Amino acid sequence: MDSNLRPRRSALYLPASNAKAIAKARTLPCDMVILDLEDAVAPEMKDAARGAAVAAVAEGGFGHREIAIRANGLDTPWGAADLAAIAGSHADAVLVPKVDGPEDIQGYQDALGSAPPAMQLWAMIETCASVANLPAIAATASSTRLSLWIMGTNDLAKEMRAQLTPCRTPFLPFLSVAVAAARSQGIAILDGVCNEFRDLEAFETEARQGLMFGFDGKSLIHPAQIEPCNAVFSPSETELTWARAVIDAFALPENAGKGAIKVEGRMAELLHLEQAQRLVTVAERIAAHD
Ligand code: COA
Ligand code: MG
Repeated sequence: MDSNLRPRRSALYLPASNAKAIAKARTLPCDMVILDLEDAVAPEMKDAARGAAVAAVAEGGFGHREIAIRANGLDTPWGAADLAAIAGSHADAVLVPKVDGPEDIQGYQDALGSAPPAMQLWAMIETCASVANLPAIAATASSTRLSLWIMGTNDLAKEMRAQLTPCRTPFLPFLSVAVAAARSQGIAILDGVCNEFRDLEAFETEARQGLMFGFDGKSLIHPAQIEPCNAVFSPSETELTWARAVIDAFALPENAGKGAIKVEGRMAELLHLEQAQRLVTVAERIAAHD
């Protein structure tokens, strides 16, 4: 499947040390599952979590969901062992933390040398140092496995000493620049997590903000966040009706060879036709899963 047309509305993190959560993830309606070895796992549990993550992927049962394992950084005592274990697994992707610049991506690329060719490299965008390097990090996608970014807003807030308020004002410039840098190289990009997992109204507001900024989906910490997240990041009926009208209008013989036409009183250009075709394809793929 063209990875840019793949539904990536909801990516659920869970500590790989939590066997119950892993079992539950196989039944949840998220598009992606991220088995975490990093922030959600205490140092004394790191080795057990690594073994559990690799075993869970080998056991399978995740259906259409993309499975990633989030490794500890190569600058930690566990990173090298994590990368070696993940490279030997059948995970769809390895997610790497705290990427500062293009040299970090190259380091992870090299550590994945023996991994199956299809294994993707996903990166957390969550350090202050990465801000100035986003275009350079994105540019490595053409020569590495890099295909997706996830915003790490908790780490970013910690490093910036900024407040993670519901409106996320301190982070908005960073989010825009990250989406633009990712898109410039065809990299998919997911928004950060909302820690307030009991407040689904706050969650939905934040998810809608992420949709407005152009994210493909959002990373999640709790099963209750999945359905509202899928709803926000699925094309709406209104959008689909408009998209089908644009596609139908451009297919009319009298519109052949035209770059701009009138559809239901609004202008539609060939760029809108492309957007419409993408929207309809993504909606079809979502319907096939849901
Ligand atoms: N993935 C899968 N299942 C999860 C889950 C997750 N992220 N979070 C909770 N669950 C399960 C629980 O195991 C529980 O299952 P049960 O009904 O079969 O007993 C159920 O969902 C309800 O959980 P709840 O009691 O509401 O939450 P909790 O207090 O057990 O856990 C957290 C709260 C925040 C500790 C937990 O959601 C979590 O670990 N989230 C992920 C943290 C993470 O990975 N962080 C790293 C990235 S930021
Ligand atoms: Mg983190």
